Amino acid sequence: MRLADDFLWGGATAANQCEGGYLEGGKGLTTVDMIPAGENRFPVMTGILPYEKLGEGERYPSREAIDMYHHMKEDVKLFAEMGFKCYRFSIAWSRIFPTGLEDDPNEEGLLFYDALIDELRKYGIEPLVTICHFDVPLTLVRELGSWRSRSMADLFVKYAATLFKRFRDKVKYWLTFNEINMVMHLPFVGAGLFFEDGEDQEKVKYQAAHHQLLASALAVKAAREINPEFKIGCMLAAGSCYANTCNPDDVWAALEKDRENYFFADVQVRGKYPAYAARALMRKGCFPSMGPEDERILEENTVDFVSFSYYTSHLTAADAGQMEKTAGNVMSSLRNPYLKASDWGWQIDPVGLRITLNNLYDRYQKPLFIVENGLGAVDELKADGTVEDDYRIAYLKAHIREMIKAVEEDGVELLGYTTWGCIDLVSASTGEMKKRYGFIYVDKQDDGTGTDGRRKKKSFEWYRQVIGTGGECVWE
Ligand code: BG6
Repeated sequence: MRLADDFLWGGATAANQCEGGYLEGGKGLTTVDMIPAGENRFPVMTGILPYEKLGEGERYPSREAIDMYHHMKEDVKLFAEMGFKCYRFSIAWSRIFPTGLEDDPNEEGLLFYDALIDELRKYGIEPLVTICHFDVPLTLVRELGSWRSRSMADLFVKYAATLFKRFRDKVKYWLTFNEINMVMHLPFVGAGLFFEDGEDQEKVKYQAAHHQLLASALAVKAAREINPEFKIGCMLAAGSCYANTCNPDDVWAALEKDRENYFFADVQVRGKYPAYAARALMRKGCFPSMGPEDERILEENTVDFVSFSYYTSHLTAADAGQMEKTAGNVMSSLRNPYLKASDWGWQIDPVGLRITLNNLYDRYQKPLFIVENGLGAVDELKADGTVEDDYRIAYLKAHIREMIKAVEEDGVELLGYTTWGCIDLVSASTGEMKKRYGFIYVDKQDDGTGTDGRRKKKSFEWYRQVIGTGGECVWE
C-alpha cells in the first residue's frame, strides 16, 4: 500500500525551538525567551513561578536554539534532499510585531520569512505555517496579562492578517494556534498566563481559551477575505484515551478525558461550545464572559481541516488510586501494560494513531493532517560522524504503517504527515537538546556548547526512501 502522489510528506519545527537569534532582526522578547532549562522550567511553564522572580545564572535554551536563523538555507537544502513535499514551521510573532502593539510590522522580520518561503518554493516544498506556536510578545504579557485580555484577539488578527497579505500567493496552508488545548496544561507556554495566589486558575484558563478560540475564528474570517483559496486548520494535542477496564465507570472517565481535548476542536470545527462543555463550565463557575457577537463569530468562521500532534495514547480509570502513572506530552496517563515507553516515559502506541485518526474523522468529517509525530531519544554521534538511530526508524515505520491503514483501509481523508523535529531542536517540555527527534543531528548540547554543525542520521536516508516510495517501503 502506498499513498497518493499529492500526499504532503515532510517535517515540522517551531520558531522558538530552532531559530535562536532571539534579539536579531528587530525581534522583540517573547514568552519562550524567558523559560529556563532546569528545575525552574516546569513552575514557569505552568504559570506558578513568574519569570521575573528567576535569579541570575539561569540558562534559556530557546534564545540560541539550533541557530536556524543563520542556517536556514542549509537546513532547507537538507529537507529538500530528503524529498520533503511539505515543511511546517511557525512564525515568531515578535519578529513581526516586536511588542505586539505596533501599528506597522517589522520589515526585517517579514523578510526573513519571505526568504524561508522562497527557499522552500525553490525546491517545490509546500509551506505549512503555524501562526502562533507557544509564543506571545512579552510586552503583551506585561501590559495586558496576555490572553486574559480580550484585546489580544484584535492584536492577533492584526498579526495574522499581516501574514495573510504578505504571503497571499506563497502560502496556502495555515494553522492558527499550535496545540490550542495546551493552555489547560502549560498556561504560560500556551497562553502567556501566570497566576496570582488564590486565583481560580481554571476560570482564568477558560477565559483565555475563549479569547484564543475567538482570535482563531477572526483570523479565519480575515484569511477568507484576503484569499478564499487559503486552507486554515486548527491544531490539537491529540491521542485518544482508553479506559483501564470495561467497567462502565472507567469507560465514562475515558470519554470525559477525551472531551477535555475535543472541546477545542469542537468549537473550531463545529462553530459552537458543545453542550457537554457549556454545562460543565457553568457548573464549575468557569463559563467565560463573551461579547455579544462572539457566538456568531465562532459559528461563521470554522476551520477547513483538523491538524494534530500524536505521540502517545492515554489511559484512565474512574478510580486511579495507587495505579502507576507515566509521562506523555504534558498530559500524564496511567501506565498501559501493553505498551513500551520512550526514555522520557511517553508510551509508544502506533495502533493508537490509527484509533485517533478514526476517532477524529468520525467526529468531524473534515480532512485531517498529522503535523507532529516522532520519537524523542538520546542519540550517539559516533567518531566517524554517523548516528545509528534504528529505534527512530522503528518508531516511525510502525506509525506510518498504521497511518497508511487508516487512509487506505478505513477511508480517513488525510492531507499529510510532518514528523516532529525533523531536525534536532530544543525540547519544549524539558528544554533539553539531548531529547532529539531529528533526521538531522545538530551539534548543540544541553550546556549550550557545540558547533551547530549538521549531520545526517541513518534515518535521513530511510525517510528519503519512505517519501520516494509514497510510503510503500514501510511494508518491507
Ligand atoms: C508538542 C509541541 O507538544 O510536542 C512541540 O507542539 C514539542 O513544540 C513536541 O516540541 C514534543 O515535545 P517535547 O517536549 O519532547 O519537545
